[in-house]
Amino acid sequence: MKNFLAIKLDNVSKGFEGKTVIDQITCEFKNKEVHVILGKSGTGKSVLLKMIMGLFKPELGRILIDNKDLNIAVNENDLILSYIFQSSALLNSLNVLDNITIFLDENRIGSKDERVNKAYDILSDLGIQDSAKSFPSELSGGMRKRVAIARSLIISPDILLYDEPTAELDPINTKVIAQIIKKLKNDSSITQIVVTHDINFAYSIADKISILENGKIIISGSVDTIKESNNAILEPI
Ligand SMILES: Nc1ncnc2c1ncn2[C@@H]1O[C@H](COP(=O)(O)OP(=O)(O)OP(=O)(O)O)[C@@H](O)[C@H]1O
Ligand SMILES: [Mg+2]
Repeated sequence: MKNFLAIKLDNVSKGFEGKTVIDQITCEFKNKEVHVILGKSGTGKSVLLKMIMGLFKPELGRILIDNKDLNIAVNENDLILSYIFQSSALLNSLNVLDNITIFLDENRIGSKDERVNKAYDILSDLGIQDSAKSFPSELSGGMRKRVAIARSLIISPDILLYDEPTAELDPINTKVIAQIIKKLKNDSSITQIVVTHDINFAYSIADKISILENGKIIISGSVDTIKESNNAILEPI
């Protein structure tokens, strides 16, 4: 299963209290691609990601990996998805190292030394090894985001879902996150799905961009295709 071709949303809908948020979306996320979902606040980007992650169930439609139900593929344990929350969602009472190794610690995966070494390798790749013993409250927003990415990477995911990874970050930290995503694209076989409302960030990382508006994907394509579309959402304020 790890060599899947694509995750497909097949006519997926989801709403809350009678209000439709995601409206019959059909969309494909190809293996190893960086696919960006671009949309304004409140358009349902997080809801879409959470459905792929299995945190919300679609009311209508199916989420497939190749032709198999994605939830079944995950439950059979041959596919690992990891979600990087909009808020980073680190545990404030644990230092960076313990935040990163928590899943491996709780499941006793590998020896303590192996877990710590793996965490340090990832922290070095992300340029924050010097913060291993710091607590989340002592870090900048950009560093916290990198810790959240490190925590996701330590479980060797096949699919990484980023929810607004540059929200509240300055341009320099935004560039750092873009570089990490591009490095992962070149050095790993992770499929990356990124939701954002940051157009320039989307242009800098995407193989493919889909624009979400009023519950629908209104256009989908390469960066050039999207730029040429002159869609109103792309206009500067
Ligand atoms: N658990 C929930 N219960 C009820 N309504 C919800 C729930 N989660 C999301 N919604 C609603 O779904 C809509 C889309 O929310 P969502 O969080 O997906 O937007 P978003 O595009 O991620 O916005 P932002 O860019 O601000 O993060 C909103 O109207 C929101 O109120
Ligand atoms: Mg959101």
